[in-house]
Amino acid sequence: MARHFEHGKLVIASHNPGKVREIGDLLRPYDVDVVSASELNLEEPEETGTTFIANAELKARFVAEASGLPALSDDSGLAVKALGGDPGVVSARWAGPGKDFGLAMQRVEDGLMGRTDRQAHFACALALCWPDGHCETFEGTVHGTLVWPPRGERGFGYDPMFVAEGRDITFGEMDPDEKHQISHRADAFRKLVAACFK
Ligand code: IMP
Repeated sequence: MARHFEHGKLVIASHNPGKVREIGDLLRPYDVDVVSASELNLEEPEETGTTFIANAELKARFVAEASGLPALSDDSGLAVKALGGDPGVVSARWAGPGKDFGLAMQRVEDGLMGRTDRQAHFACALALCWPDGHCETFEGTVHGTLVWPPRGERGFGYDPMFVAEGRDITFGEMDPDEKHQISHRADAFRKLVAACFK
């Protein structure tokens, strides 16, 4: 049985205001008082893990220990089958210091040149850790294929080249509400909420 979150403060182990807002929205129906790591002036640890789960866990563990409060983190990325799972945990880094995802998508496309297998999935790992070191982790995925050229101005990151299974528009073209129903993050959150917040 997973450990349940008892009402009160929960620190979102992220300095990304978009992520903090999205997580706050998802947890609104539950008795959770969400604060961000930035509000508490907490630093971000280096993401040295080789899996999404390991990185999510190290971020939440660090913040739970530093704050003395339960902490929730999210680590996500794109895994391309023909590239052996790359860019994976370094999905953000492929965009370089300028966070240029046009460049990151081009790098994926260059890697796929001449290959017929264009399967990929997005993964999202969530870790909920307590100050005593206990952690619960969950992983969500959405499978699909990669298209070229990229399409759509919505979403972020690799969204314009990703078409989820059973759809024909990219995440970059999709209404955000629809993406949030089927995304890797939605899948991981459903698992987290069922285990720890209900
Ligand atoms: P993180 O902030 O270290 O978890 O990095 C996640 C990176 O993975 C982002 O910068 C994006 O490049 C990519 N990523 C994660 N989720 C999505 C998504 O829903 N759409 C597009 N790209 C995503």
